[in-house]
Amino acid sequence: QSVSTRLKKDMIRGLGKHTHHRAPVKMLPTFVRATPDGTEKGDFLALDLGGTNFRVLHVRILEDEQRVVKMDSQICAIPQEIMLGHGEKLFDHIAACLAEFLDSHELKGQTLPLGFTFSFPCEQLDIDKSVLIRWTKGFNCSGVEGEDVVRLLREAIHRRGDYDIGSVAMVNDTVGTMMSCGYRDQSCEIGMIIGTGTNACYMEEMRNVKRVEGEDGRMCINTEWGGFGDDGSLRDIQTDFDLVVDKTSLNPGIHTYEKMISGMYLGEIARLVLVKLTEDKLLFDGQVSDALQTPGRFETRFISEIEDTGLENTQRILTELDLNWSLGDVRLVWLVCDTISTRSAQLCAAALATIANRIRNNRGLDHLKTTVGVDGTVFKKHPNFSQQLQATVRLLAPRCDITFLVSEDGSGKGAAMVTAVAQRLAMQMGGDV
Ligand code: BGC
Repeated sequence: QSVSTRLKKDMIRGLGKHTHHRAPVKMLPTFVRATPDGTEKGDFLALDLGGTNFRVLHVRILEDEQRVVKMDSQICAIPQEIMLGHGEKLFDHIAACLAEFLDSHELKGQTLPLGFTFSFPCEQLDIDKSVLIRWTKGFNCSGVEGEDVVRLLREAIHRRGDYDIGSVAMVNDTVGTMMSCGYRDQSCEIGMIIGTGTNACYMEEMRNVKRVEGEDGRMCINTEWGGFGDDGSLRDIQTDFDLVVDKTSLNPGIHTYEKMISGMYLGEIARLVLVKLTEDKLLFDGQVSDALQTPGRFETRFISEIEDTGLENTQRILTELDLNWSLGDVRLVWLVCDTISTRSAQLCAAALATIANRIRNNRGLDHLKTTVGVDGTVFKKHPNFSQQLQATVRLLAPRCDITFLVSEDGSGKGAAMVTAVAQRLAMQMGGDV
């Protein structure tokens, strides 16, 4: 409840014209003003950068069947040296992957509209103008922060000169997830990701979006809740382990909340706790193996595997980490993992409940019925994460009835959907597409 109360205040700071620049929760306008109404249609390209992989997709929206179909897709690996190298190299790589995809699917001659899911905090100036505020997760390319990502993409495509793209819509993965679920369920007004990183977006009343002109209607706000706590407001609940994870990360001091919740960090928190318990002679007879001493060796997926039924997975993983375990050790390791994943689920729930309560208050409703589109490996793969999260949301937002819709390929399909909705709105207003 206390975390939720703090976030509620920070969301208001993020939306305010004069408080935004100092606010840790950025509350970024997305220029997505409407969710799908079911009349969208057509063929689109989608790029998806920011999770585990980079993907190129060809997506078709079938109005008659009310379905978004992934026609084809291709995964391109992004090598570590590109993730940490110069931005121009990153965009050249993206343009090359797209070229290869268009070639192999005979799409090079067509100039299709493109949805670009770029899952990092961006100050969006319009649907096709989006300036990167800062890298998060494992990325740290130079020369991109402070630049318009659409321009960097177009320049890389022009440098090649062998194909072109149509209009571009920039989308955060949370927005893509909300929009792709929104085609199936038109009351889907929140998008949430709990994967490598964590974040959520929701439909806010325009009258509260002080940094964008206009009072009528709604706009989707990308909360960037991962940055919650960057001003020290969560210091009382951060543990020594959280502080080490932050200090040894690529971006110390940034995305405090994300580092307590998301897949990029949970395994490392667990590793640090296990090392400490071993040093205190509470585990493995006080013997730490080299593997357990190695940062990053205890992967987040181990937490899901350990908490899955039975103790066999735990025994296998501990053996793989060269640890000499007893049955008591196995139980204690399970408890450590359960504590870390439960904390993550409950923190996420506190944030989601804050958003749901805000939407209910915004609309002056006694009771809100709404749907959240969700994606991300932690939510999908962990055996009881989603139950924990839902139970805590029910406690913290008792007057909100929330349906969770797990998104299939939301960031790719959703990017196409955002492009399609933008086209529909432009047509309805009689403008150019
Ligand atoms: C990014 C968000 C993104 C989230 C989930 C965070 O690190 O800042 O933009 O939505 O990860 O991918």
